[in-house]
Amino acid sequence: MHLLSIDEFDEKRIDRLFTHANNLQIGILPQPPQFKKILANLFYEPSTRTSSSFFSAMTRLGHAVLPINEVIYSSVTKGETLEDTIKTLSSYVDIIVLRHPFVGASKAAARVSSVPIINAGDGIGEHPTQTLLDLYTIWRKFKHINNLTITLMGDLKNGRTVHSLVNVLRNLYDVNINLVSPDNLQLPYYLANAAWRNFDGSSAAYDHLPKSTSLTESICKTTDVLYMTRVQKERGSVGKYTLTKDHVDLFKKNMIVLHPFPRQNEIPTWFDTDRRAYYFKQIQNGLYVRMAILSEIINAK
Ligand code: CP
Repeated sequence: MHLLSIDEFDEKRIDRLFTHANNLQIGILPQPPQFKKILANLFYEPSTRTSSSFFSAMTRLGHAVLPINEVIYSSVTKGETLEDTIKTLSSYVDIIVLRHPFVGASKAAARVSSVPIINAGDGIGEHPTQTLLDLYTIWRKFKHINNLTITLMGDLKNGRTVHSLVNVLRNLYDVNINLVSPDNLQLPYYLANAAWRNFDGSSAAYDHLPKSTSLTESICKTTDVLYMTRVQKERGSVGKYTLTKDHVDLFKKNMIVLHPFPRQNEIPTWFDTDRRAYYFKQIQNGLYVRMAILSEIINAK
């Protein structure tokens, strides 16, 4: 049972996962496992949250982790292919969490792996476990996802967390989506259908979609969830945008601000003490969501 894309989830599976994560979070802990499993954290790109939370989640479930967080110290440096690396690790471990700079790397890995692969980010493609924890954070706050106004702001072109999120929001939920980005960092054409229900697929229609280049007064006043992302410099993105006091003054009292982190300058630290700053709760929620994901995969084997 691999976890490669958010498309693998329907609402029922997400609800089950959220209930499980919530039970873990309120202290309903599972029995220690009879047989320990081993997870390999195979990261070809830097990570703090994803690698550490998978490590922590697997350990808290009573299992073990083989960390390969820095592949330069592995035989990848000697030219070993992804496929050979995956085949080798499949002989030693029970689950592989893979982060890789190329879109589709997790699918390529899954084709040759004899153990489940979890996509922990494949280039500008997807980051499905991040999306699950993003949705979980929204669900925990509002007790529902439907009917919310969700504003995605930042590098919508190269930010993979937004790509997974916009897909699932469109496919499974009834939400209003606003997209805010500099002109050069707009959501790619191939995802436009996910953001706008009545998009007819033509390039002329794409040019006229309601994309905003700034957080307007009306967006600030109507947003329930502001999901901000950083400029993906390592993927060639260039741009600048920052949350200001003027924006914050217009926000609803009960809205929340999320960010997958790491952040750069898009959310100033003075906002961290505002009760609408939900990104550290989001990070903490990731642990329980990943515990629930790992339990599901381990029990499905
Ligand atoms: N959100 C996220 O993927 O963070 P890391 O890159 O630190 O894992």
